[in-house]
Amino acid sequence: MGKFDRPRAKGTIRILLGKFSDNQSHPILNAWRRKYCVYIDIKLRRRGRAFYRRMDSTLRCHWPLERTSMSHDNPEAAKSSPIRDPRVLEVIKHLNESRNRPPREAFDGPARHDAEAFADYGFSIHPDQGDIIYLLCRGMGAKRVVDFATSIGMSALYFAAAMRDNGGGLVIGSELVQSKVDTARANLADAGLADYADIRVGDARETLRDLGGPIDFALIDGWPQPHGPSLARTVIEIVAPQLRVGGYVLNDNAEPDFLDYIRDPANGFISTTLPIKRGTELALKVR
Ligand SMILES: C[S@@+](CC[C@H](N)C(=O)[O-])C[C@H]1O[C@@H](n2cnc3c(N)ncnc32)[C@H](O)[C@@H]1O
Repeated sequence: MGKFDRPRAKGTIRILLGKFSDNQSHPILNAWRRKYCVYIDIKLRRRGRAFYRRMDSTLRCHWPLERTSMSHDNPEAAKSSPIRDPRVLEVIKHLNESRNRPPREAFDGPARHDAEAFADYGFSIHPDQGDIIYLLCRGMGAKRVVDFATSIGMSALYFAAAMRDNGGGLVIGSELVQSKVDTARANLADAGLADYADIRVGDARETLRDLGGPIDFALIDGWPQPHGPSLARTVIEIVAPQLRVGGYVLNDNAEPDFLDYIRDPANGFISTTLPIKRGTELALKVR
């Protein structure tokens, strides 16, 4: 029996440090986790919520991978952003401060795949992902980019700021939920970036079919599906032919069938997994 398989003592809970799903995106980390037995067992006692909250933040502080990506509630994150415009930073800061997560049970209920049922939640990208989007778009002089999906506009803000700072350009966004589109538009307006975004309301599998010409960069930040291919996979198949050679794709959720596509040399991409969140795939179209 390996160390990792050691049975948990009765009356304890097991916490895996850096709990990565066992998918192809983290073969090295998965092996490392098994080899070094990165878990702790905690004896259950009558403890208040505050104890577990403290425990959670302690573990986060001591986990090196978490440290490589700054937490969204870390005030340092705003200071180190490549974005310089205080008006844009203020809106991003506000969105980060008002982040909230649905209760755990919401993901078990019958409406767990229904985007409308989660209309009050942004599920926005991490500030490190936003900074990378902004920097790469600036570096390549991007003029036309795709934001799938837009939600309440966090990723769109980073894209739109880069478009404006590049001297003009357009973010083509896609979002199914009308109320989120309204919020995203308001956030872009508050940041002074409304002129740089065209957010298309509806199913991305339709709204992104015709992007009106080559694009420079696409974010693929999807949504779980009850069955069949992931949205990320379906949308990358729609968007990839419209991306120019030399263009980038950034993916948030490491959907296995998305990774299969982007890592298959036949599809013309090379990619790497950045240690942000649970793995952020950054791909470059090479042919
Ligand atoms: C993870 S969130 C996107 C977060 C966003 N990139 C940000 O940084 O704020 C995914 C979004 O996909 C939307 N969505 C789900 N299915 C969709 C579809 N078929 N077409 C377009 N948007 C969809 C959901 O409503 C949700 O807002």
